Amino acid sequence: MFELNKLAKLSYNQDNPKSPYLFSGITVQIQQAERIALIGSSGQGKSTLLRTLALLSSPDEGMMLLEGASYQEVGARNWRKRICYVAQQAVMLPGSVEDNLRTASRLHGTSYESKLADELLETSGLSELDLQKNARELSGGEMQRIALIRSMLLRPSVLLLDEVTSSLDAMNTRAVEQLLQKWHEKEGTTLIGVTHELEQAVRSSERVWFMSSNTILEDAPTVRFFSEPSTEAARKFIGLIKEEVQL
Ligand SMILES: Nc1ncnc2c1ncn2[C@@H]1O[C@H](COP(=O)(O)OP(=O)(O)OP(=O)(O)O)[C@@H](O)[C@H]1O
Ligand SMILES: [Mg+2]
Repeated sequence: MFELNKLAKLSYNQDNPKSPYLFSGITVQIQQAERIALIGSSGQGKSTLLRTLALLSSPDEGMMLLEGASYQEVGARNWRKRICYVAQQAVMLPGSVEDNLRTASRLHGTSYESKLADELLETSGLSELDLQKNARELSGGEMQRIALIRSMLLRPSVLLLDEVTSSLDAMNTRAVEQLLQKWHEKEGTTLIGVTHELEQAVRSSERVWFMSSNTILEDAPTVRFFSEPSTEAARKFIGLIKEEVQL
């Protein structure tokens, strides 16, 4: 369904003796709807990889295919409709919360599904929110959920989630995780989510992409990745997080 072939992005600093690439040689395939956790230490390029997958940044080398068609064939506009990036720092457009929620339908000339929007608001803990409120006056956690719902209303095939629960308390984090799981089951949406929380990766994915050494160093079922990582880098990474969790 979705395929990356030797995908690469050049680094800003190409004189870096270690590698001229931020990432390279990324070859992975997604056959059917899946939930994937993209993990790795800070600055590895996880956000940049997701932005590249959504064509918000262009690949320097390699190929991306959706249902067998390359991103050039599909065209940026249609590609972005089907592969949606939800940013680490939610960005609200000028206007009310409702204006923001209506963005996708306005841009793509589709009808606005207000019933679905209400359901998604309710299940993500925002039923009390005044939709006429200026979106830029929302809290960080409220913005994150509005940005997520705004993307879900597009019904993309692939949702790229960049630490979308990082500003939420434990209860709302669980609510959003459950909302996404149900959405994945019902809509058959593939979810690729970045998280720094080991437990969240375990709870909310079946497959892990571990980024290290400028590539996806490990691509494995979640349970296997955490029980028997095959590289030293992954063992170290998991070990470090486990230490943090115990503190
Ligand atoms: N071509 C490039 N595009 C984007 N970032 C680049 C590029 N080349 C080098 N970089 C650097 O690589 C890093 C990539 O950052 P990115 O936000 O993708 O990492 P991340 O894994 O998401 O980190 P975090 O976990 O902190 O969110 C930044 O330090 C950035 O300056
Ligand atoms: Mg990031």
